[in-house]
Formats: sequence, C-alpha cells, structure tokens
Amino acid sequence: MKTAIIYVSSHHGNTKKVLDVMAYSNDIDLLKISEAKKTDFSVYDAIGFASGIYFHKFHKGIEKLASEIDLTGKKVFTVYTCGINYINYARGIQKTIRSQDCEFIGGFSCRGYDTYGFFEKIGGIAKNHPNEKDFRKAREFIKNNLR
Ligand SMILES: Cc1cc2nc3c(=O)[nH]c(=O)nc-3n(C[C@H](O)[C@H](O)[C@H](O)COP(=O)(O)O)c2cc1C
Repeated sequence: MKTAIIYVSSHHGNTKKVLDVMAYSNDIDLLKISEAKKTDFSVYDAIGFASGIYFHKFHKGIEKLASEIDLTGKKVFTVYTCGINYINYARGIQKTIRSQDCEFIGGFSCRGYDTYGFFEKIGGIAKNHPNEKDFRKAREFIKNNLR
C-alpha cells in the first residue's frame, strides 16, 4: 500500500508531528501543498488529507486539492489536529472526498497546542498535545486502516 499524505501544518507543527509518527516505518510520503502540485498521484493506492483546524475548517488549499486530485479507486482518509476537539471538523472535506468515486476509509483527529488570539493570554490550550497517547492512536489508525 503506497500512500501519500498532503498536509498543511503551520502554527506549532502539531499536525506534522502526528504525520511523522504515522509515516515512521510505513510506506507513506508526506507532501506539502507545493510538492503535491508537482506529484503524479496515479502511483499511490491511498491518499490522506491533513491540516490543523483554522476557523473551524481544514486549510483552504487542502480542501481545494481534495476536489482537484483524481481520487478514483483510491483509499482516502483525513487527519487533523485542533485546539478543542468537540465536533467533526473534517465534515466539509469528507463530503468533497465522498463526491468522488473513491473509498473513504475514515478520519483521525486529536488535540494540538493552541495559542491563537485570546488563548495566548491564558497560556494556550491543549498544551501537551499531541502527546504519547495521541501518537499511539495515530499509529493504530494507520495500522488498522492502511493494509
Ligand atoms: C488562526 C487559527 C485559528 C484556529 N481555529 C481553530 C478552531 O476554529 N477550532 C479549533 O479547535 N482550533 C483552532 N485553532 C487551533 C489549531 O487548530 C491547533 O493548534 C492545531 O493543532 C494547529 O495545527 P498545526 O500546528 O499543525 O498548524 C486555530 C489556530 C489558529 C492559529
């Protein structure tokens, strides 16, 4: 199973930390948006879309690629980190993915340290995330879904 994960991870690199754990000793290429634009995705069996959550959504560039890349026949999944994990922030992008003729295999999410705006004043939220437990779950997500 050859897999590509296209990602944006800006503020604290929280999402990238999770992706590094997922990619470790697996056949997974991590691609930034700029790299994804030059990539031939026909060689991949599975594609992941990953992002921090910014104002309730995935990064716009990631959402756009989910509609532009031909996902036909591929396994597709989402990964995100967010400050407050209380709703499925991937709902929008998952709808875009499902509109293609692909197999949506699920989503992984966990909290990620957030110091945006007001939260900075109180020392940030989700301070120690992603943590070892989040990383273990991330490894399990890959093990259970990509084989
Ligand atoms: C500009 C901005 C907007 C954010 N908006 C949300 C939000 O709407 N909901 C939420 O739960 N977290 C929000 N966060 C927190 C981030 O999603 C969280 O810190 C995430 O782990 C960032 O991932 P990254 O370090 O990979 O970029 C926001 C953070 C920033 C900087």
